[in-house]
Amino acid sequence: MKKIIFTILITYISLQALTIEARKSKTDLSKITPISREWMTAKVSELILYPETNSTAKAKKAGVRVLYNEKNIAFLIEWHDKTKSVQKELNGTNYADGFTIQFASNLEIGKLPYIKMGSKDREVLVHKQRFYKSKNKKTFIAEGSKSIKNIEINSTSSMEHLGKNWRGTLIRPIKDNYINLSSDAIAVSFVIWHSENDNEGLKLLSSWVGVSKDAKEDNALLATLNAKAEGDIKRGKELAKKYCASCHNYKTTPNLTNIGGYASTVYLIESIVKPNAVVADGKNISSMPSFNYLPTKDILDIVTFFQTLKETSKD
Ligand code: HEC
Repeated sequence: MKKIIFTILITYISLQALTIEARKSKTDLSKITPISREWMTAKVSELILYPETNSTAKAKKAGVRVLYNEKNIAFLIEWHDKTKSVQKELNGTNYADGFTIQFASNLEIGKLPYIKMGSKDREVLVHKQRFYKSKNKKTFIAEGSKSIKNIEINSTSSMEHLGKNWRGTLIRPIKDNYINLSSDAIAVSFVIWHSENDNEGLKLLSSWVGVSKDAKEDNALLATLNAKAEGDIKRGKELAKKYCASCHNYKTTPNLTNIGGYASTVYLIESIVKPNAVVADGKNISSMPSFNYLPTKDILDIVTFFQTLKETSKD
């Protein structure tokens, strides 16, 4: 495992392109809203979010800005959506537009939590906001979608619909009882819910992305998050047909349609050589066999092919 990660770390590409650059702010961030002028001082980074299950839906572009000071860190996510879908009752079953910002709470480099709400021993902290009048926030920690524990955090989140776009903000302490975001680089991921009227809505998610406050180029976390395998796609596809297609047809469960969009390369490698390290959906033991007996080149080629499994048309 270490050897493979090292192999890809020395071949990684476009480190900066994927990292969100946070800017230090002199303002009291606890007071800023989705339309505050202070956001003009932040750098906009483009993020792409991929449909979690719907294999025909397009991916979605979002602009993300991050500001911070000694006390707080503030996120703004903006995405295109002409229809404003509002939740009618606080605990109703109808759906609304919304967003989620997820943090890895005890991140060990190389051991990324499962992107869909964490997994056993790899906890995530989630700030979730659906559009209900203006407030319907939930904060929880999770080790998978079946183990969610609601918590109270001194955070503010809000949403504002500006004609054709949604803007969502989250302002939270740099440090609290659950998480410490004071290091130079942190790992964050985003979800957007896109609902139309009362239908269930589409959930789109990003991969783990690095947010850099003042990180050096060789920052180990950013290198892990941005590492890419650069093997042979064609050969990888053939190997995947041979070893993986009996269980994964890329469209049905275990669904891998957009896996190349929301899974980090390090996570893909781990899923193949150590399927039990992170098991999707809270089952404790994966029924997927380990492929750690394959030569490193084969694994890298398979991973290179898997990186290409993602929707390319974007909203
Ligand atoms: C015997 C059936 C089986 C085979 C063969 C198999 N898998 Fe899996 N795979 C699963 C199951 C079941 C899961 C979901 C449980 C889990 O997360 O381990 C899974 C999960 C995954 C995941 C994580 C999905 C996610 O949503 O995060 C990846 C990546 C993956 N497999 C890749 C592969 C690759 C690459 C191969 C071939 C080298 C392969 N699998 C072969 C059954 C299989």
